[in-house]
Amino acid sequence: MPRRPFALTLFIASSCLATTTSAVDFKSQVFPILNQKCAECHSVAKDKIKGKFAIDRIDDMKKHVKAGEPTKSTLVYTVTLPDDDEEVMPPKGKNRLTPAEVTLLKSWIQEGANFEAGAAPTAAPATPAPGGVLSWTNTEGKAIQASFEGMQGADVVLKTADGTRHAFPLSKLSPESQAQAKKLAGQ
Ligand code: HEC
Repeated sequence: MPRRPFALTLFIASSCLATTTSAVDFKSQVFPILNQKCAECHSVAKDKIKGKFAIDRIDDMKKHVKAGEPTKSTLVYTVTLPDDDEEVMPPKGKNRLTPAEVTLLKSWIQEGANFEAGAAPTAAPATPAPGGVLSWTNTEGKAIQASFEGMQGADVVLKTADGTRHAFPLSKLSPESQAQAKKLAGQ
C-alpha cells in the first residue's frame, strides 16, 4: 500500500534528479551584465563607442572573445585587472563586474561563446506514455522521475526506478503534472 507520509521526503530526496546542466545564454544572461556595466561607453544603441568597441556589435565582441578559452579572451582580461590598472574595464575600478558575473562570462566563453539565442536547452513537453518514465513536479517545484501507475481516489500513484510505488495527493502536484496525470488517467 502506498504510504503518504513519505511523499514529501521522496520529492526532497530526489530533487537532485531534476538538476540539469544548462548552457549560459548570451542574450538573456551575459548581455544584460555588459549592457549595465559597459554600455554607457561601448554601445552602438547609445551612440557611445569608445576604443572602437561596442558590446552590441558582434564583430567587436568576437575580437575580444576567444571561444573556449576565457583566459585568452581580452574581454575577460580587461574586466579582471586590478582596480588601479590603466586598462581595467570599466575604467578606474568603478562599477566592476562582480565575481559571479565574471564567472558567468567565463563559462559562456568556455562553452563556445555562442551569440545565438536559445543555446540553453529548453525542456521538451512531456509526452504522456503509459508505463514510461516521466518527470513530475510538486507545487514547490521539486521534481522526480517516475512512471504513472494510476489514480487512487484523489491520489496519483507513481512508481520510481527502484520499483517502489508512491501516492501523491493530486493537489500537491504542479498544474502541469496534474494535467499530465489526468491525461494519463483518461480524465
Ligand atoms: C566610462 C567609460 C567606460 C566604461 C563604462 C567601459 N569602458 Fe571600455 N573603454 C573605455 C575607453 C575610453 C576605452 C579606450 C581606451 C584606450 O583606447 O586607451 C575603452 C576600451 C575598451 C576595450 C579595448 C578596445 C580595444 O580594441 O583596444 C575593451 C575590450 C573594453 N573597453 C571593454 C569594456 C568592458 C567589457 C566594459 C564593461 C565591463 C567597459 N569596457 C566599460 C571606456 C569605458
